[in-house]
Amino acid sequence: MNILAVESSCDETAVAIVRDGRQVLTDCIASQVALHRIYGGVVPEIASRKHVEVIYGLAEQALGQAGLSRGELDALAVTYAPGLIGAVLVGVNFAKAAALALDKPLIPVHHIRGHIAANYLAYPDLEPPFLCLVASGGHTMFVDVQDYTQMRILGGTLDDAAGESFDKVARVLGMPYPGGAALDQAAQLGDDTKYVLPRPRPGDNPYDMSFSGLKTAALNLIHHAQQVGQELDRDSLCAGFCRAVSEILVSRAVLALEETGYRKIAIAGGVAANSRIRRDLGAAAAERNATVYMPPLALCGDNGAMIGAQAYYEFLAGNVADMSLNAYATKSILGEQLSSAK
Ligand code: KG4
Ligand code: ZN
Repeated sequence: MNILAVESSCDETAVAIVRDGRQVLTDCIASQVALHRIYGGVVPEIASRKHVEVIYGLAEQALGQAGLSRGELDALAVTYAPGLIGAVLVGVNFAKAAALALDKPLIPVHHIRGHIAANYLAYPDLEPPFLCLVASGGHTMFVDVQDYTQMRILGGTLDDAAGESFDKVARVLGMPYPGGAALDQAAQLGDDTKYVLPRPRPGDNPYDMSFSGLKTAALNLIHHAQQVGQELDRDSLCAGFCRAVSEILVSRAVLALEETGYRKIAIAGGVAANSRIRRDLGAAAAERNATVYMPPLALCGDNGAMIGAQAYYEFLAGNVADMSLNAYATKSILGEQLSSAK
């Protein structure tokens, strides 16, 4: 089954064609990062306009690269939530129009389910059930992936997402948006014991997290150094920050492995590209004889292939939409959101 999948929830316009949920025929991305960089973050209106400009050409390019005609597509898929509402709407409207014109099924995909599905592309043998740590610019949570379309949230951040805190600290350190990757790189050169940052434990649920306090602690440290004219060891602050985020995430991952008895843990989302998190999670899983699934960096960030992968399983579960499909800025990853999309 050839699915043309569209992703436009933030600042990447992406169109991919994926066969049977596992085989990427093509994965085209038009990144807007450079466009938003001068503003220090994504400007929603600019993002929407740029998606409109490039989406049609990108779909044509995807078909050309895959060597397929429009008639050889079996379905259209699209991220319908969550994201910047104007940006998501561009993809949804494009996919609706294409599905209508080609008379093919339309499959709505939750963006975070797509991030999880990136693992199916990287690891052809991976099948649920498994645990997944999702850490992106907008979400941070531990998901029990019971089946391809059936999930349970163990816990998540109660305030900022991990990626948001990476980007904010990076911005104050003068790194260009989005600063997560630059902060990761600077951390390689630093001493992670020089600046000790907090590891907040909010509420009663041991899987819940808080990144707002950690971010504020890092920002206070930076501002304090500036105020008293102290020279900040930027690389060591980055190393301390990465260590704190990694320990927050990996300690919960270990707990989840122990409590659920699962022996498989995957990571997903842009922050899953972080080298410290990958290293620490890899070591913690190995100690417990668990297998850790870490998609290559290109599949961690937003892309269309992950949407095409998840779409296949949504289709098999009967989750298809009609022309009343709407876009949503926020939606739970859990199953109930699909009822409003039908
Ligand atoms: O999943 P994603 O591409 O978009 C969303 O759905 O949000 O995630 C983007 C986030 C940004 O906050 C970015 O700074 C962060 O992922 N990121 C990283 C790294 N690479 C990207 N954070 C930490 N270390 C990295 N190497
Ligand atoms: Zn994403």
